[in-house]
Amino acid sequence: MITIKSKREIELMKKAGLLVSEMHKFIKPYIKEGITTKELDKLCEDFIRSQDAVPTEKGYEGYPASICASVNDTVVHGIPNNYKLKNGDIITIDTVIGYKGYQGDSAWTYKVGEINEDDEYLMKHTEKALYKGINEVKPGARIGDVSAAVEKYAKEHNLGVVRELCGHGIGSEMHEDPEVPNYGLPNTGPKLKPGMVICIEPMLTFGKRYIYQEDDGWTIKTEDGKNAAHYEHTVLVTENGYEILTPRLDD
Ligand code: MF3
Ligand code: CO
Repeated sequence: MITIKSKREIELMKKAGLLVSEMHKFIKPYIKEGITTKELDKLCEDFIRSQDAVPTEKGYEGYPASICASVNDTVVHGIPNNYKLKNGDIITIDTVIGYKGYQGDSAWTYKVGEINEDDEYLMKHTEKALYKGINEVKPGARIGDVSAAVEKYAKEHNLGVVRELCGHGIGSEMHEDPEVPNYGLPNTGPKLKPGMVICIEPMLTFGKRYIYQEDDGWTIKTEDGKNAAHYEHTVLVTENGYEILTPRLDD
C-alpha cells in the first residue's frame, strides 16, 4: 500500500530530510586521505544524535552502523571499518535519519582528493541520472516513467544499471511501497499522487551491471571490480510536481 502523507507528516519528513542534507554537509570536509570509514561513521552518528534525531540504519535488520560507507567497487551497504581512505578513492555515504518517527534518506558519492577521469564521468552522470528520474515526478506520472528516464540516461552514457536493488517509498518506515527500480518502461507501475514520498536512487557502474554480496551479509560489490556511484534523494510528490526533501547543501 502506498500511503499519502498528511500535512503534519510532511512537515516532519521535511525536517528529517533536511537533517540528512545537513549531515552530508557536515561530513564532507572530513572525507580526506587517511580517515577511516569507521571514524566517518562515528562523526555522523554523533552529529545525528546532537540533532535529537535517530540513526535509523543502526540496528536495522542487524546493520551495525549509522551510515553505509561504500568505497570504489562497493556499490552499497559498505560497513564502516578500519580502511583508511586514499587519494583517488570515491566513497558513497548513504544514511537514513529519523526525526519524531519520520525518515529521510539520501546517498551521495564523494571524491577523495584527486580522482581519475573515469570516476569523474561516473559520478557526474550517476547524479544526472538521478535528476532525470526526479524530473518525471508529478501527479499522474507513473513509477515506470521515473525508472525508464534513469535507465535511458544511464544507457546513453554507457553506464551499467544495477537491477537487484531499487528505490522505495519512505515515511515512518525507511522502506515502504512502492518499489522504484532504475530500469523499466514508461507508462507502467503505480501512479503518483500528491503526498506520496519516494526515494529515487540510481546505482550505476563503470563496467558491467553485475554484483555480488560479501560474506558479511551486507557489502555489495561489482563483479568485475569496476567502480560504482550512487546518488539518492527523498522526493515528495506535490500538487504541481515534486519537492526534494534532501536538498544538497554542500556545493
Ligand atoms: N539507505 C539505504 C537505502 O537507500 C538502506 C540502507 S540499509 C541499512 O535504502 F541497513 F544500512 F540500513
Ligand atoms: Co533508499
